[in-house]
Amino acid sequence: MSNPVDKHEQAMRRHFHETAARRGFSLAPAQEAAVERLAHLAAELARPAWTFPKPPRDLYVWGPVGRGKSWLVDTFYEGLPDRRKRRLHFHDFFRRLHDGVTKPGSRRDGRSAVDSALDDLLGDSRVLVFDEFHAHDAGDAMLIARLFRTLLDRRITLVTTSNYPPAGLMPDPLYHHLFEPTITLIEQRMDVLDVTGPVDFRRLAAPSAENGGRRFATGLCLSPGDTALDALGLTTPAAAEATTVPAHLRELPARAVRGDLAWFGFDALCETATGVPDYLALAERFTTLVLDEVPPLPDATADGRQRFANLIDVACDRDLRLILIGCDPLATLPEGQSLTRDLDRTASRLAMLQRAN
Ligand SMILES: Nc1ncnc2c1ncn2[C@@H]1O[C@H](COP(=O)(O)OP(=O)(O)OP(=O)(O)O)[C@@H](O)[C@H]1O
Ligand SMILES: [Mg+2]
Repeated sequence: MSNPVDKHEQAMRRHFHETAARRGFSLAPAQEAAVERLAHLAAELARPAWTFPKPPRDLYVWGPVGRGKSWLVDTFYEGLPDRRKRRLHFHDFFRRLHDGVTKPGSRRDGRSAVDSALDDLLGDSRVLVFDEFHAHDAGDAMLIARLFRTLLDRRITLVTTSNYPPAGLMPDPLYHHLFEPTITLIEQRMDVLDVTGPVDFRRLAAPSAENGGRRFATGLCLSPGDTALDALGLTTPAAAEATTVPAHLRELPARAVRGDLAWFGFDALCETATGVPDYLALAERFTTLVLDEVPPLPDATADGRQRFANLIDVACDRDLRLILIGCDPLATLPEGQSLTRDLDRTASRLAMLQRAN
């Protein structure tokens, strides 16, 4: 008689291989190793919680951009039969946690605000998939530290992805030491899986119609006056179309709103004090975002470049179709110069956007 644990492990392994085959992927060796580890985790999660003194060990999956980390954890998540699961993108998770912690009355029954906010976010989930974890902002370091301590002590298994090995988190040498206790905790309590391989899959083949069903891949990066704009029915907005669009706790000036498409100037979205919560609000309301007057990135301010990178992240994560009009933002990058803290990721994502052009 087959062992029921093996049955779940095999089912997850098969799910990975079938999903990869459907997409025409051949898995990189580092991905294969991750599949094995995730299949094992699926089997552990299939056991009743009361049979465990502790929840299955947490996983920290890291590697450079485009190595298929999000694909791995998304496919794992889809393949888990138990509905007690939660998947959140780091930006989104942090925004919600932050809102929860600062909400009046968030302290209940003497429990900490972080605990209460997590209760609301996690419910009875046994596994939390937490994509694209990073820590840059010294101001966020303390909340992230509390978050990890609290999460790692809960009866929930955490599966995170990151572009950084634990020791590389909070890269700014001025603040790195603030984060060292959290790094130690991650290294002790999580199994660290390195999926560094030679290939950035986003730069590999031309995107197929079935690029994970991600609309982002059909996005375009165009120069003004490009005939492709006519082909898409994207006529330059008339002055009378100017309007405002509600974002997170503010209104943003748009050049036009046409059904589920919103058209903005680069400055309105990236050179004013907008943030990830605003982009998330736009992604909830619209399916296509047009951004015109995109400058060469060295001409934007440092904050503008970082906001642009965050916008690309949100667009990619939320399957938002993004049409950029203006300069190729990466064409004039000085060799080896890092314009944003996560430029690699932005470049990898823009490369995918441009290939579709
Ligand atoms: N083995 C593979 N062969 C071809 N394409 C793949 C493979 N694995 C993943 N992909 C595809 O490559 C693209 C990049 O993968 P993914 O988004 O998972 O990368 P990532 O490691 O999460 O990158 P980032 O660090 O930028 O978040 C996606 O479109 C994904 O579906
Ligand atoms: Mg990813």
